[in-house]
Parts: sequence; structure tokens; C-alpha cells
Amino acid sequence: EKGGYDHFMLKEIYEQPHAIKDTYRGRLRVEQGIVKMAGVDQNLERFLNANRIIIVACGTSWHAGLVAEYIFEDLARIPVEVEYASEFRYRNPVITDKDVVIAISQSGETADTLAAIKLAKEKGAFVFGICNVVGSSIARETHAGAYTHAGPEIGVASTKAFTTQITLLTLLALKLARESGTLSKTKFHEILTEMEGIPAKVERVLESNPLIEIIADVYKDAENCLYLGRGYNFPVALEGALKLKEISYIHAEGYPAAEMKHGPIALIDEQMPVIVIATKKGHYEKVVSNIQEIKSRKGKIIAVVTEGDSQVRDLADHVVEVPESSEALSPLLTTIPLQLLSYHIAVMRGCNVDQPRNLAKSVTVE
Ligand code: M6R
Repeated sequence: EKGGYDHFMLKEIYEQPHAIKDTYRGRLRVEQGIVKMAGVDQNLERFLNANRIIIVACGTSWHAGLVAEYIFEDLARIPVEVEYASEFRYRNPVITDKDVVIAISQSGETADTLAAIKLAKEKGAFVFGICNVVGSSIARETHAGAYTHAGPEIGVASTKAFTTQITLLTLLALKLARESGTLSKTKFHEILTEMEGIPAKVERVLESNPLIEIIADVYKDAENCLYLGRGYNFPVALEGALKLKEISYIHAEGYPAAEMKHGPIALIDEQMPVIVIATKKGHYEKVVSNIQEIKSRKGKIIAVVTEGDSQVRDLADHVVEVPESSEALSPLLTTIPLQLLSYHIAVMRGCNVDQPRNLAKSVTVE
């Protein structure tokens, strides 16, 4: 059932090119120049008249929500707030019938997310669900929604659920941006076409697996790890750190690269591996100077860079290349090496990768 892979997690990492295709199949219609999503079309007015979008989720799904915040604000110009469902539900939040709430959940059973949805509904918001599991509680409790169609995710550490959630949220943002006119036809078409090419690019990133295994071997005994990214790749840094924590039990933190100097820089010494996402589009020069700051404090640098990069290669201890892409779609690529790195480190440390201690696949208690 693991399809020849040692673990479900690895299988699911490798399924991503297909899973992403399954998410956009039938929705992404490049030739017609449209994004088709029935649940959105039927409620288009609610979306287009929204004062703001509030995204509620937990864990990895919350990280997908953070990526979506950048996409929605950038393309559709709708203000977005991303909330931990557990905090949102107990905060007496201000919600009106002009708000659209998007709940993201792989399992569709997360107790806190479910409770946040019920609260938002009581206050009159329109609630849209993004789930993977068909017929799940969240899918039933929301007013409308869309499935990611990633296929079953067995590994407790979420991988393909994350990239397919981002794919779906990107389609949604593109659709709203086009319908409201905040995005030109040309730009819209450009991003649609690029999205179609993403699965092939993910395949290419997966070819770095042997290299990542070598890097994992160097850092498998680390006690701490720092993950840095900016812009669209800041949430990817958070997600990379979560993956490492939950399956390898190494303490890891994700930070926006520029925040490093406000505290975490004090942690950096020759023992500290720092994983930096330094792709060409989006804040590249700024990230390069962050890398120089780490280097001058003797931190070990593992950088995720764009194919052909030479500037970061000269500074970093290790580089993993990903194909070129726009900043908006880059999380779909940059997140893959981080998944593989956590996987290999956890295996080398003898951890139970698919069922880490103290964790369950879906958290149905608060
Ligand atoms: O099923 P959900 O997406 O609602 O689950 C949310 C989190 O419990 C989940 O993403 C968790 O953080 C994963 N173990 C992360 O890999």
C-alpha cells in the first residue's frame, strides 16, 4: 500500500505532481481563459462584495492560509486575515455578514476549525470550506466549498495536502481577481499557464532527493534549526520548521528573514544550521544580505535557490536548486526540498516518520 516507498510520507511527497494536477483538473482552463469552481460561481456576489476574507485553520493548513494571504491581497486586492482557529473561536472576534470566512482543513475534522466555522456562521458570515476528505464534518458544515482532491494522506506530517491547498487557494484568488477586474487578462493568462507547468517543475525538484539525503546526513544530529524566508516564502519557512519538529523532534523555528536581527540572530553559531529560501523572484538581494549576516556569525547555510544561481552558491554551505517561477507560485516548489530534508533527517534519527509520538492525523479534541 506504500507503493514501494519505505513510508507513506515519502510516497505522498512523490505524489505531489499528480496531486496538484488533480486539484486543478477541470478548474484550470487555459484555453478558455477561465477558472471554473462551481462553489464560487454560485456565490460570486458574496465573494465580490466581501469587506475582507478571514482564513481559519490549524497547523500546516494555517500555513497554507498564510500563503493565500499574500496571493489574495496581491492579485485580488481583498484584505485578508489569517487566524488560528483555536484563538479565533475564543476571542469574541468582530465578524459581520460582509465577511467571507475560508476554513482550510485536510481532514475536515479538526475540532477547533469546526468550532470557528460554527461561530462565524452564527455571526452571519459566509463560510467556504477547503477540505481534502470528501463528506467530512467541515465539508458538511460550510455553506459552500471546494475539495483539494489530493487523495488520502496517511502520514501524520502533512505534505501533499499543503501543496494542493495552496494550488486551490491560488485558483480561487485568480478567479476572484479576474471577476473583480483587479488582474489584467494578460497577467491572469500568464499565471494560469504557469500553474499548468508546476507539476513538471515539482518533478524536477524531486530529482534533488539524493542531494538532500546527503545534506540530511550532515545535519541529522543538530539540536536546533532555523528556517528563514521572506514574502510568499515566509510561510514556507514556518512549514519547513513544523515538518522538522514534528517528525525528527529537533527544535526548529521559522522566521521572516528580516526578523532575524530582532532576536534569533543571537542563536547563530557554528552549531546552527539555517535553511534559507533565496529564490530569484521576490526580495532576492535582501535575502542575500541576510545570508551574509548568518555567514559572518559562522552559521551553516542550506539555501534553496533558483536554478543557475551563483551568488548564493558562493556563500552557502549547501544549495538545492528549484526551477525558476514567479514569486506567487514559488511556495509550491520551495516547500518540496524542506519536506524531503525533514523526512531524511527523521529516518536517520530512527524516528517513526508516519506516526510521530504524541500526534494524531486529525485533532478532533480541542
Ligand atoms: O486536518 P487539518 O488540516 O485540519 O489538520 C490541521 C493540523 O492538525 C495539521 O496540519 C497538523 O499540523 C499536521 N500534523 C502538520 O503536518
